[in-house]
Amino acid sequence: MEVSAPVVGTAQDEAEVQAALRRLAMMIAKHQPSAAVLHAVTEEAARQFEPATAGVIRYERDGRTTLVAESTEGPPAAGWGGRLPAVGLTAAVLHTRRFVSASVGSRFTAAMPVYVDDLMWGLVAVGSGRMLPTDVERRLTELAELVAATVADERRWAELAASRTRLVAASDKIRQRIERDLHEGAQQFVITLVLRLRGVAEIPSLLPEIRAEVEDIAAELLAVFYGVRELARAVHPAILSVGGLYPALRALARRSTVPAVVDVRVHRRLPEPIEVAAYHVAAEALANAAEHGRASGVELNAKDSGDALLVEVRDDGVGGADPTLGSGLIGLRDRTEALGGAFIVVSPPGAGTVVSCRLPVAPVTPGA
Ligand SMILES: Nc1ncnc2c1ncn2[C@@H]1O[C@H](COP(=O)(O)OP(=O)(O)OP(=O)(O)O)[C@@H](O)[C@H]1O
Ligand SMILES: [Mg+2]
Repeated sequence: MEVSAPVVGTAQDEAEVQAALRRLAMMIAKHQPSAAVLHAVTEEAARQFEPATAGVIRYERDGRTTLVAESTEGPPAAGWGGRLPAVGLTAAVLHTRRFVSASVGSRFTAAMPVYVDDLMWGLVAVGSGRMLPTDVERRLTELAELVAATVADERRWAELAASRTRLVAASDKIRQRIERDLHEGAQQFVITLVLRLRGVAEIPSLLPEIRAEVEDIAAELLAVFYGVRELARAVHPAILSVGGLYPALRALARRSTVPAVVDVRVHRRLPEPIEVAAYHVAAEALANAAEHGRASGVELNAKDSGDALLVEVRDDGVGGADPTLGSGLIGLRDRTEALGGAFIVVSPPGAGTVVSCRLPVAPVTPGA
């Protein structure tokens, strides 16, 4: 391979180039899928150096390279595809860490490294049967910056999503531990005391007023037991871990203080975070219907559509729910979005409230 200085080419309409770069920057700002942005970058590169092929190539840890995006038109770019060892142009960029242009036979190529978070991530390359213009370095610099911004943006989003998911998972773990501690600790302890007191109340020689007092204390302790059980359920519903959404949602509806009509069409176990999220959505919406909505009736629907779980709670109360006024609805949205789902509250004043969420579920593989 002979490394040569860029050669003179055709002048491009600078305004057109700038407009194209702005469009690409807009795609990044709108968080369009990185594959689409990178492909658009290669299309723009191919257009600027026409007739040309353009590619975005990533360096892998094992010293190989992966072609991440490639322009659709133009002559095939030999040696760019698949996972290849860094050779030729890609090796030259890797070693010089700078812009490289070269000509091999009648083919002209140029490449610019892409740095993400100060580390060399990959390169943008163009190849053409015609000489490349003198300003190829400047133009590839602009395109490489867009590639870097796209990759950095995707990385940030992925990190954010992962950290949200971790936070939800960590809080669920703590909730499960608290529920277990309450169940195995306080609840068991209190129920043992109730039984002991009942035993005392049965002693025949007991003075009637003492028996009455002991029975009274036992009854109050039993109320404490139910209170702790209710608290444990709110923290983490054991019925959910044991039986899944079908019994858990029906139990929720049964306990609802506003009369609830329930329709649960979920007949399989779903991943735990999804079951837990769906349960909390239903529980919070039912509690809100009673507490804020002053509703006279509520409907709870849950449906497994195969690739998603849909939960909807509809009340006929006063409406006007505002998620910014509390932590319940906002927490549900965070939880749902951390799982890649969507959460919506529709609550016009005077017209009831509908809380719905869609939680994506990995599709079932036949025979799996
Ligand atoms: N079903 C409903 N009908 C009418 N208003 C509602 C309903 N649900 C919520 N709201 C209103 O929206 C606000 C926010 O609800 P959210 O559940 O987020 O918080 P909260 O119930 O006040 O507190 P918590 O953090 O304990 O849930 C409530 O304070 C209430 O004013
Ligand atoms: Mg609430």
